[in-house]
Amino acid sequence: KDVYEIAVVHGDGIGPEVCGAAVEVVRAALGSDGPLRFTEYPAGAEHFMRTGDSFPASTFQACRDADAILHGAGGIPGVVRADGTEAGLDFTLRLRFELDLYANIRPVRLFKGVTSPLRGVGAGDIDYIILRENSEGLYAARGAGALLRGEVAVDTLVQTRKGIERIVRKGFELARQSKGAPEDGVRRVTCCDKANVLRSYAFFRAVFDEVAADYPDVATEHVLVDAMAMHLVLRPAHFNVIVTENMFGDILSDLAAATVGGMGMAPSAEIGEAKGFFQAAHGSAPDIAGKGIANPYGTILSAAAMLEWLGHKHEDERLSRAADHIRSVTEACLADGLLSADLKGTASTHQIRDAVCERVMRDHA
Ligand code: IPM
Ligand code: MN
Repeated sequence: KDVYEIAVVHGDGIGPEVCGAAVEVVRAALGSDGPLRFTEYPAGAEHFMRTGDSFPASTFQACRDADAILHGAGGIPGVVRADGTEAGLDFTLRLRFELDLYANIRPVRLFKGVTSPLRGVGAGDIDYIILRENSEGLYAARGAGALLRGEVAVDTLVQTRKGIERIVRKGFELARQSKGAPEDGVRRVTCCDKANVLRSYAFFRAVFDEVAADYPDVATEHVLVDAMAMHLVLRPAHFNVIVTENMFGDILSDLAAATVGGMGMAPSAEIGEAKGFFQAAHGSAPDIAGKGIANPYGTILSAAAMLEWLGHKHEDERLSRAADHIRSVTEACLADGLLSADLKGTASTHQIRDAVCERVMRDHA
């Protein structure tokens, strides 16, 4: 392929700051005549306030046509529709469901130079993936829940055999590609559910066990989600790949991010059979928007995941190499103390962007 079309949506709050930084880093890694073409499209809460439309049809079409989608962040608290839900989340949520981006891959890794709030935990001790089912579960009820006579509200949690099978398979594949858990080097997939109480999760577990039989080389275990919240704090080194339902994955990803420096250090990749959507797991942080202090690392690492995914899909070594390059430079910059305010540092978003770009280009030459 000569040109890869990337649909870029900056979104709300700190979205433009972190997304702009990530685009510059990718440009630096691929060179000025590189194969990626970035085009910006509008969506989000600010666009909704201006136009009454949170996700224009033209933006949706551009995302469908693009080779990949890169997003800053969406949503502003209080910018809600009649049912009380946020308008600015349409972009993310509709893309997930309408493009069938069933696998939300969220690497959780403690980098050298970043301090974990957990005692006695250092770089390399936390390195696992939360694989969040992204196309069904409780989120499938979005827009379809019911409020009865203003008294009773109902949302339905949906789990299908097809949906569970494909996310669990993805979990085993990710484990096979990994180095295993930091604690013991064992490749392990942990099924995280609430099978002791709810039928839908018991089904999730049963299908997990069926699929696991196809991967005898990978260790498996079951952990209930409430216990998981504790284990991620007390023994994070144990985990390799954790596969879980949509809503549980949402909650656990923030807890996990807290152990490795906070939401600013939480990249994510949302992929389906054909399409890929890349954004950090954090929100739009309106409280610090426009101050130039947002942490861009999560979005930079999400952009690296985009290059890796594109490179693999199109067997294009240039992109895979650029992905590795951005990751190693990011790692080096963090280790050197290039830290934003959330990481107890003093570097601005632009300083981080420029330093990462410079180093990426220097290593080229
Ligand atoms: C995430 C976010 C989203 C979610 C929001 C922005 C819709 O919190 O990606 O984790 O709830 O899934
Ligand atoms: Mn979330």
